[in-house]
Amino acid sequence: MSAYPLLFSRLRLGPVELRNRVVMTAMTTGFGYEAGIPNEDLTAYLRERSGELAMTTVGFGAVRPEGRVESKIPWMWKPEVESGLAAVTEAIHDGGGLACLQLGHGGRQASPQTAGSQPVAPSAVPSPFVRSSATPRELTIREIEEIVASFGDAAQTAARAGFDAIEVHAGHGYLIQQFLSRDANRRSDVYGGATVAERARFAVEVVSRVRGSAPELALLVRINGSDLYAGGEGPSEAALVGAALAGAGADALIVSAGIYGTVPYTIPLLDDPEAIHLPGAAHVRAHVEIPVIAVGAFARPAVAEAALRRGDCDAIAVGRALLADPQWLAKARRGRVDEIRPCVATVDACAGMLATGDPISCSVNPEVGRERRTPLTRAVSRGRVVVVGLGPAGMEAACRGAELGHEVVAFERQERPGGAARLAARTPTLVRYARLIAWFERRLRTGGVDVRAGAATDGEAIAELDPDLVVVATGAITDPPLIDGYDELATWPVEDFLGELPSSLDSTDQPQCPVILGDGRIALATALAFAARSAGCTLLSRSRPGGDASGMARRAYLTRLDRQGVVRLVGYPVRLSTQGVWWSGDGPEEHLSEADALVLADRRRPERPPRMDLVRAEVVRVGDARTPRDLTSAIAEGREALDEFTRARMMPARA
Ligand SMILES: Cc1cc2nc3c(=O)[nH]c(=O)nc-3n(C[C@H](O)[C@H](O)[C@H](O)COP(=O)(O)O)c2cc1C
Ligand code: SF4
Repeated sequence: MSAYPLLFSRLRLGPVELRNRVVMTAMTTGFGYEAGIPNEDLTAYLRERSGELAMTTVGFGAVRPEGRVESKIPWMWKPEVESGLAAVTEAIHDGGGLACLQLGHGGRQASPQTAGSQPVAPSAVPSPFVRSSATPRELTIREIEEIVASFGDAAQTAARAGFDAIEVHAGHGYLIQQFLSRDANRRSDVYGGATVAERARFAVEVVSRVRGSAPELALLVRINGSDLYAGGEGPSEAALVGAALAGAGADALIVSAGIYGTVPYTIPLLDDPEAIHLPGAAHVRAHVEIPVIAVGAFARPAVAEAALRRGDCDAIAVGRALLADPQWLAKARRGRVDEIRPCVATVDACAGMLATGDPISCSVNPEVGRERRTPLTRAVSRGRVVVVGLGPAGMEAACRGAELGHEVVAFERQERPGGAARLAARTPTLVRYARLIAWFERRLRTGGVDVRAGAATDGEAIAELDPDLVVVATGAITDPPLIDGYDELATWPVEDFLGELPSSLDSTDQPQCPVILGDGRIALATALAFAARSAGCTLLSRSRPGGDASGMARRAYLTRLDRQGVVRLVGYPVRLSTQGVWWSGDGPEEHLSEADALVLADRRRPERPPRMDLVRAEVVRVGDARTPRDLTSAIAEGREALDEFTRARMMPARA
């Protein structure tokens, strides 16, 4: 008997039946398309994930050129898109699941650069939270009718390409949601109105047209359970809209939240709780007769099963958990959830990449986007590998080495593996790192890595092992700052500060109003962790704070810091004293904040590794030991070091 009986039960969605209750949510990839036509990179990426799922959704296909929100997406008006999409549905069907295509129009959220023209919208009102947003042009009635027709045409193309379902995008601040919104829709004609029922006319027309154009397909509509900002639409409007769309022919609703720029985001991150948008789905479900699918930070199968058991929703849409581990559902079915590689919810390598037009990947799974590469098998010739340091880079190198058949010995100075990630996991915004470390620890154990923790190693001990490869993953250290007067304050390395954090406010010898010094994510996370205890602190950054995080994560951090009242100072000149932080700028010196300690939070310099002059092996530095950066680079480099080493050992030997 499965531990998740509801997750693995069937569900009817209009004309189709789901074989279980998990669908892959729409995710734009930033790769896999050439001028709007899917290519084999996309097919391979979807094939890798769809094997167990009930249904796999292809992200945002634009129904018209001016509705493009990204460039690497389906361009549904192009005749050649049909054959590209047919290859996609074939790949998904090979795994036995259903294929769904999301259709949308970006409206005012389409950038003029991507869409090729001035954005259009119900009214000439720019996006409220996107600084660079252009003022859109108000659509004429005739143009509205043309867009409705384009949705119908796109649905027919999808049907011919073999899709089983369409998801109409009526949420996230795109065109249909703009019509629903009193804020964005100021029209006085039949598409506007004081009530959401009046403003739902466009959504209802689109859904009816898609229903009529592709009656054999299941028709899902994604709506917002809440727009997530004051003045946006909320749960009661969502329930009304859901009922109207069910009446227009929708077979199911997928209930999400937010528009571009709202914090918390549509894509939950950092310390946003798991299943954060589920209450919105539950509310809509109480008001409609059709199935409701919940989406948003379902990281653990048990959380999904509990949502189904409570009757909050009928199925779950999963996104990033399937980027991090394509076998998420297969592992749940086999009861092996502790083998699931966990998503850490920082969006650095996935959604965070889309803003800059780059392809997505995944911080914990560097294989995302390169599914077409032939997977490495075990090395023909087994090598002896020594890994020095078990932070993320070292853990990945050691585990990967063992998986590829090498004999791996790993040294770690601390009692437990984790390095900088274990430290970061002490802060609420990076708490999901703890799951990642637990996953690595298990993998080290089951992979048979000989972990020698709790003592520093030296070149002699390494040389004695006579390795073929030494991976140096010793991380990075902080440097004292070049600030006048810094030595007047008690100085804490961030590791000691976070180590003491749980009891710091109860103890008189701990700082009460520290200055956290640093530009990187760990400085922001530390400041927040301290401020969350209702204590004052100052974040002093040399340059742009959070520059090592994606724009999305950075904005989430800065919003949280401001809400917590953390004083943020950027740049020097500054002087520190026992009275606090002083700023001189162009004018007279000013006292800006109190301070009783300085916390050094930036790891600026690679740690000095053990001497290697006795070691005859190849030596590779990875992660922060190469250059201090982030989790994404650390894991990617740790993995690549072992892949390279193994590839070389797979080459046929020269005569
Ligand atoms: C890389 C990425 C791309 C996304 N693209 C889309 C999209 O094309 N359409 C959409 O409705 N939502 C998109 N989303 C939002 C997801 O569908 C989903 O609502 C969100 O990621 C929360 O689910 P998760 O926590 O399971 O990832 C995207 C999310 C990510 C991470
Ligand atoms: S990049 Fe980060 S947030 Fe995105 S799927 Fe991977 S681990 Fe999760």
